[in-house]
Amino acid sequence: MYTVKDKMRAVMSFLDLANKRYSVRSYEAAEIEETNLLEVLEAGRIAPSAANQQPCHFIVIRDPVQKQALKEAYAKDWFWKAPVIIVVCVEPHKAWTRQDGKNYAAVDGAIAMDHMTLCAADLGLGTCWIGAFDPAKIRRILDLPEEIEPLAMTPLGKPAAPALPKRRKALEQMLHHEHW
Ligand SMILES: Cc1cc2nc3c(=O)[nH]c(=O)nc-3n(C[C@H](O)[C@H](O)[C@H](O)COP(=O)(O)O)c2cc1C
Repeated sequence: MYTVKDKMRAVMSFLDLANKRYSVRSYEAAEIEETNLLEVLEAGRIAPSAANQQPCHFIVIRDPVQKQALKEAYAKDWFWKAPVIIVVCVEPHKAWTRQDGKNYAAVDGAIAMDHMTLCAADLGLGTCWIGAFDPAKIRRILDLPEEIEPLAMTPLGKPAAPALPKRRKALEQMLHHEHW
């Protein structure tokens, strides 16, 4: 059935959604709906990857004990207080590698992560890219096999703080025509 909520979502342009997403650094402790979590993960699953190699894995963490353990790898309180944490991992050896040796696993993982953060924003949920974690500690806490790389994490939950205005360079500072 086509609901009013669906209709509201349909009228939001992509730019509205991209502007709506922001780094949420304060979360309500309330659980999120399972269907919302599945929708966010689905957005990550359908993300494109170089040569369609699909080197991404998503680890969903809800267990309070495991969340407390993650505190060792990224100490900010707001991070592990969210009801869900998603860790995006990649398998570099399965990702596409360009002729010059450049491996695209991190690019693929970043696209999946971005799909998920935008989907979460669409659902009214907050996320925050976390890259500044201790990878060795994450490996140990999550039992990652050697060949799996933890790329990024995000809390997922209802935002408890409003967005700050976006600080971005002007387009002229990054736009080039025809050559550098
Ligand atoms: C790859 C990447 C890693 C990031 N790592 C962290 C992080 O470790 N901790 C944090 O608080 N924010 C992190 N951020 C969030 C950025 O600081 C944030 O996206 C940027 O300041 C723009 O703000 P906005 O997301 O609210 O638009 C990261 C963002 C990206 C894209």
